[in-house]
Amino acid sequence: MLESPHSVLIAGASGGIAQAIGAEIIRRYPQTRLLTLSRTSVDRIPGHAGERHHLSVALDGPESVDAVGSFLAEQPSPPHWIISCCGILHDEFQRPEKSLSQCEDRWLLQSMRVNVLSHLHLAQAVDGILPRRSPLLWASLSAKVGSITDNQLGGWYSYRASKAALNMLIKNLSIEWARKLEESCVVAIHPGTTDTSLSKPFQANVPPDKLSSPAVSANRIVNILGQLVASDSGKFLSWDGSEIPW
Ligand SMILES: NC(=O)c1ccc[n+]([C@@H]2O[C@H](COP(=O)([O-])OP(=O)(O)OC[C@H]3O[C@@H](n4cnc5c(N)ncnc54)[C@H](OP(=O)(O)O)[C@@H]3O)[C@@H](O)[C@H]2O)c1
Repeated sequence: MLESPHSVLIAGASGGIAQAIGAEIIRRYPQTRLLTLSRTSVDRIPGHAGERHHLSVALDGPESVDAVGSFLAEQPSPPHWIISCCGILHDEFQRPEKSLSQCEDRWLLQSMRVNVLSHLHLAQAVDGILPRRSPLLWASLSAKVGSITDNQLGGWYSYRASKAALNMLIKNLSIEWARKLEESCVVAIHPGTTDTSLSKPFQANVPPDKLSSPAVSANRIVNILGQLVASDSGKFLSWDGSEIPW
């Protein structure tokens, strides 16, 4: 769709995969203007060009819609690629649930906030500033375990349910933006199991050849992004470019 994007926005930019995607984009497309959104400050994002390109914001709160909208409106042009990387699987107190009895409202709601609302608020902010003629490629990092068809094992209730909800959000967005924008492509991408803080507690049973470094996953994701065309919009893609059933 856009071999060489002139502006790329990465949300959740301090994350393991997000940082590697940023580095890969700068390596491949040195002229690209890289914009970042993160709860953390710009100096915690290695190689970043500076304050004008960064907004410290918690995307899971509704006030982020206006804050991101204003930030984007200040930029010389709207982003061509938007890569939304926000996601949560566990925190210091909470592990993914193995059974129904371990499910708690608080954690399901927190998973929904980070895994769904962060992406929704970003889309709302973008929706407000995008000119009709502006080409747009949107990718949300989802997870294969959010596929309802693919679910053979059960467990991980909050993560699976929130990623399934994200997947529906992405499908809907692909339909709305196909009507509204002249050239858009909206996809969900499963990055594959990647060695970041998100997967760290669950790596013991992952064979070494199934665990990728952030740099390898980022390389695969940017390969996919560079090849997408408008007719791919509405797809759920795996790290190798194959389609995952919703
Ligand atoms: N690693 C894997 O094996 C794997 C597998 C399948 C799918 N994924 C998906 O890929 C994406 C990136 O994952 P990653 O492995 O790079 O994870 P990570 O290093 O933990 O990064 C996740 C990012 O989500 C953002 N986030 C926003 N609000 C948050 C909150 N309240 N609590 C925690 N994080 C919050 C953070 O960005 P800021 O702090 O910069 O705002 C954080 O850096 C996620 O959506 C994840 O579900 C990862």
